[in-house]
Amino acid sequence: MSISIPRGTQDILPGEVEKWQLIEAKARELCEKYQYQEIRTPIFEHTDLFSRGVGDSTDIVQKEMYTFEDRGKRSITLRPEGTAAVVRSFVEKKMFGLAGQPVKLYYMGPMFRYERPQAGRFRQFVQFGVEALGSNDPAIDAEVISLAMNLYKEMGLTQLKLIINSLGDKESRTAHREALVNHFKPRIGEFCHDCQNRLEKNPLRILDCKQDRDHELMKTAPSILEFLNDFSKAYFEKLQHYLTQLDIPFEVDANLVRGLDYYNHTAFEIMSNAEGFGAITTLCGGGRYNGLAEEIGGPETPGIGFALSIERFIAALDAEGIELEVNQGIDCYLASLGEEAKDYTVGLLQQLRLAGFSAERDYLNRKIKAQFKAADRLKAKYVAILGDDELKNNKINIKNMATGEQVEVDLGSFVQYFQGLKGEK
Ligand code: HAM
Repeated sequence: MSISIPRGTQDILPGEVEKWQLIEAKARELCEKYQYQEIRTPIFEHTDLFSRGVGDSTDIVQKEMYTFEDRGKRSITLRPEGTAAVVRSFVEKKMFGLAGQPVKLYYMGPMFRYERPQAGRFRQFVQFGVEALGSNDPAIDAEVISLAMNLYKEMGLTQLKLIINSLGDKESRTAHREALVNHFKPRIGEFCHDCQNRLEKNPLRILDCKQDRDHELMKTAPSILEFLNDFSKAYFEKLQHYLTQLDIPFEVDANLVRGLDYYNHTAFEIMSNAEGFGAITTLCGGGRYNGLAEEIGGPETPGIGFALSIERFIAALDAEGIELEVNQGIDCYLASLGEEAKDYTVGLLQQLRLAGFSAERDYLNRKIKAQFKAADRLKAKYVAILGDDELKNNKINIKNMATGEQVEVDLGSFVQYFQGLKGEK
């Protein structure tokens, strides 16, 4: 019996993987410009990190984690997201003591959530995310948002919508929480079992419930924006001022609460407006998480970041009909005629590659015609043809596949010929 791939995961094959590489390279390039440095944390962490960091009452912690006991009887979880681990590392490695503050980090790697697989929703997916720790300046919130927006734009996406909200500081949230409890309590019996538990534990989570989303009380629920105190209000206004200054259009959506518990002040999501994108339109989500470092046992540290998945990024590119230039073609295909010539191309191929050219030869004993076909498939810019006769005369033919032009050069100056071509460009 053959074994198939687990549900909610995917193989990314050649032809497709180049798109991933382009996005990843662009993300790294932007991080360099914005001065975020890469951090790599483990794929698994102690389960407590996520129950404390992401929040016990979130769907992620309650229903979606890949948690197991290891042989030492420790509870281990495959990371469902990157923020908690980055903050753990920030605290553990005492990055708060570094000279360069704020500490600006980025990560790229697989995350795991046991969700119901559908278009745009996987059980293993790759997130690119950034976290800026140590600054309470709304300008850095704007910077983080602009980095995400620019990444999408530079890859060609145009149909984007940025929505922002403020979840306020502790005082604002406490007042809002009380209003939410008063609002839902009299009719909580009409809500799902999860929401009934959420009422006392974390009523904000009710607003994020997928099951009860159409209940009339959802539409009339008190908005957090009415409960922002002066500091929170001023913070949110400043963020909007900076976004306007950066020419980033946005909409304020008071219902945006996000699915993780660590947020306060800024919360945002970037959606795709492209037709046919499917039901899940959120490409990127993030926000501010002052207090998370303390939750994990560190000093009080403000933080803000976002994460986006490459899977949804590519789905958005597809929905907008954007084709990335993935196959540029190789520099040279080395075709041969005759046993000795074939043998000789092994070394010649190596010389080309060491000189910095992409090059390939035949490994299947193909006839010359089939070798040319293989060269076409690889979009070879040049095909070099070496026959036993040429080899005897120390010559080789090079055909420019774009013009059809063919020249004969000395074998000894073969690589130099290519180097010369490069210089001409
Ligand atoms: P999140 O909203 O849970 O936030 O996920 C962020 C992004 O990850 C989503 O917008 C989506 O692009 C992608 N994503 C999430 N789940 C899946 C899935 N099952 N399949 C495919 N893509 C998925 C966080 O993870 C926070 N750590 C973001 C953050 C960073 N906040 C502050 N810093």
